[in-house]
Amino acid sequence: MSKLIIEGSRRLRGNTKVQGSKNSILPILAACIICKDECVIHNCPNILDVRVTRRILEYLGCKTSFENHTFIVNSKDIFKNDIPDFLMREMRSSIIFLGSLISGIGSAKLSLPGGCELGPRPIDIHLDSLRQLGVRITESHGILECDGGKGLIGCNIAFSFPSVGATENLILAAVTAKGTTVITNAAKEPEVIDLINFLKKCGANIRYSHGGTIVITGVSRLHGAEHSVIPDRIVAITYMAAAAATSSSITIENVIEEHISSVIPIFEEAGCIITAKGKDVLQIDSPTRPYFNRIIRTMPYPGFPTDAQAPVMSMTSVADGTSIFVENIFSNRYKHVGELLRLGADIKVEDKVAIVEGVKKLSGAKVTAMDLRGAASLVVAGLGAEGVTEISGVKYIDRGYEDIEGNLSKLGAYIKRI
Ligand code: UD1
Repeated sequence: MSKLIIEGSRRLRGNTKVQGSKNSILPILAACIICKDECVIHNCPNILDVRVTRRILEYLGCKTSFENHTFIVNSKDIFKNDIPDFLMREMRSSIIFLGSLISGIGSAKLSLPGGCELGPRPIDIHLDSLRQLGVRITESHGILECDGGKGLIGCNIAFSFPSVGATENLILAAVTAKGTTVITNAAKEPEVIDLINFLKKCGANIRYSHGGTIVITGVSRLHGAEHSVIPDRIVAITYMAAAAATSSSITIENVIEEHISSVIPIFEEAGCIITAKGKDVLQIDSPTRPYFNRIIRTMPYPGFPTDAQAPVMSMTSVADGTSIFVENIFSNRYKHVGELLRLGADIKVEDKVAIVEGVKKLSGAKVTAMDLRGAASLVVAGLGAEGVTEISGVKYIDRGYEDIEGNLSKLGAYIKRI
């Protein structure tokens, strides 16, 4: 079991480059199986979730290679339609293979993702919308069997909530359906748009409006394509939070400002100066101590992202002032709070509200990460804390952050993996 050891209170400086987006690459790799051809994906992050996805692709019969952030998938010889339980358990977002298997093979058999570290994660919106396209779905003993029969037929589907995963699954299923599918109240996250852009390169016919309506006219088949995934906006925000928590100035490359437009004002109100330095490069200059008195509500895009709540909370826990977080997306997303308390933070949680009274300094302690973004928040807090912080549960960080200790060390942090 590896751990991260951080000696905090060191100023960060210099440049860091943000990796490709985890939430883009996973559905795009799943989409590759519909093409039955070679797809070349650039800017692919070398993270645990990508390595698990690679094992799933190879289990299904795809040939893959992954070098220098370029992932090549050839799905010509795909011969299986199931994902075994042990792979589903390793990565709950592998539910995204549902839509692509139905589209590419005509059927799918997977175990239900069940509960997860963020609370129960139902997939009713995924299943209801696939049923409306004509997929026959049976659930028994935790196994989901889906059959597209003689082919899916496009229709109008209105989501009760703009679920990211359900939007992606439905798009994947509908690209090869007969006729037109119209999704209203679809998710608008940049990662959904990245998936659409990739599928269009593969020959899909998809129109997207910024109001959240997606119109998909089915085509008989897709072909291979080359694509570069967008930068990971949550990783960029994590580096910004690390800079603010350590009174530092750093330059962040490979960040699309529009994708973090709901988060930039939060840092500016905390006293940070954010300056665009050319295309996709931002500089953040932080005050000696951030100050903050505000309510942050997590919302679907373009609102404040739930994935940024934990790392930004670490920044506000050392800010001058009181901040209030309202977590509207996931029911169990404050697990990092108990660990931040060990570092000396002053936070109270009641249901979906967390009240953070900023303290002058956190102090190092032994803490345990329990989910991906909670793990990132502990790294941010440890960097700002006085003394040594020892973080267990590093596997969660590895799910979504490529070489976090290497990147932070280059910025001048003392962070080691043991
Ligand atoms: C994706 C992201 C995750 C991010 C989240 C919200 C990936 C791999 N993961 O997760 O990092 O935090 O979007 O931006 O892209 N819900 C239902 N029924 C459903 C589907 C969802 O009730 O059928 C609920 C969920 O329980 C949750 C909320 O809707 O409370 C948001 O979920 P969703 O947008 O689907 O998130 P994911 O796709 O799981």
